[in-house]
Amino acid sequence: MNTHIDKLYPYPFERLDQLFTGVQPPTGSKPISLSIGEPRHTPPGFVLEAFNKALADGAARYPVAKGLSELREACSDWVQRRYAAQICPNTEVLPVNGTREGLFALVQTLVTPGDKPVVLMPNPFYQIYEGATLLAGAEPVYLDTTAATDYLPDLDSVSEETWKRSALFFVCSPGNPTGAVMDETYWQRVLELADRYDFVIAADECYADIYPEKAPVGLLEVCTKIGRTDFKRCIAFHSLSKRSNVPGIRSGFVAGDRDLMKRFLAYRTYHGCAMPFATQIASVAAWNDDAHVAENCKLYGKKFAQVTPILKEVFEVDIPAASFYLWPLIPYDTEEFTRRLYESANVIILPGSYLSRTGPAGDPAAGRLRISLVASVEDCVTAAHAMRDLAIAMR
Ligand SMILES: Cc1ncc(COP(=O)(O)O)c(C=O)c1O
Repeated sequence: MNTHIDKLYPYPFERLDQLFTGVQPPTGSKPISLSIGEPRHTPPGFVLEAFNKALADGAARYPVAKGLSELREACSDWVQRRYAAQICPNTEVLPVNGTREGLFALVQTLVTPGDKPVVLMPNPFYQIYEGATLLAGAEPVYLDTTAATDYLPDLDSVSEETWKRSALFFVCSPGNPTGAVMDETYWQRVLELADRYDFVIAADECYADIYPEKAPVGLLEVCTKIGRTDFKRCIAFHSLSKRSNVPGIRSGFVAGDRDLMKRFLAYRTYHGCAMPFATQIASVAAWNDDAHVAENCKLYGKKFAQVTPILKEVFEVDIPAASFYLWPLIPYDTEEFTRRLYESANVIILPGSYLSRTGPAGDPAAGRLRISLVASVEDCVTAAHAMRDLAIAMR
């Protein structure tokens, strides 16, 4: 038995199920789920069409871990358009079946627990970073992201000794759950630390194309701007799930340091996680198109514009720099609020603390809710009214 499995924490949604045990929403009410980060806008028709067309052909052959050259080229073309960065489609990019499995696999590729056993990550965070670390037999170290640090990992909280023991640093920009974006100065600081202490930067940028106004700067872009064109110690993760509303086809890619890519490919060849052919063909269509992304952003923009003023009446809340999450600070117990919201209005949200770990400085997600604006505009507005009404009732 792999005893590392015992170290895993319950997933946030298991905790939510437990919180709702024995609670009944009003009979006949329509459920509105804003808890999970699963996009629900309509997937682009041309992507589904490409997928369907390729199914029969793809079913008859094994795909390879390296992926089709057409796909790697579509990914590098997108990187060029989005970040003005040039990556080699043959050596600096690899497909992953969604960033989730890529994030997991990277830790297994890079971490040798006896050597540099620490993996750094933001707190709160996407729980795969931690699970992958624990299953690799390594040690997660959490960097709080609070209002005091502009919701970016507190680099000053890490000791010299911990930096030296670090193999990998997960950063998430735009951030889940805060929606915060790392600016160029912050990226450069992380790059300097990576060079000084010799660790790899794993940049989870799966929300890179969900933003209201200004496109978030990315790791590959900053590297290019400062002439770091070998992307040494850098790996960026990108996904079609949020960008193109296709979380079910499982498609993303990693790009960066070619030496790391080589090792990653070696690991993946044995792991057996080649992307199915039809997914690759559909992904080529999706990465090659930006028009549907602009429409997607507009729709999220509409929801932020309508929901935020309603919540502002009762909570401290702002439209984030990017992502589709709101991260309000509320003056009530967040579990009680979440439970009562479900009970009174059949609206499901997530207590922020389900995404964080409490450290010496306390819980960085204390008093926070994560509200995922993935439902329709109407449902998001209905949910916002229900939250406002409950907050008033709890005064
Ligand atoms: C921060 C973050 N990273 C990665 C993922 C995984 O995305 P996917 O595997 O669909 O690409 C998610 C999904 O919600 C996420 O929030």
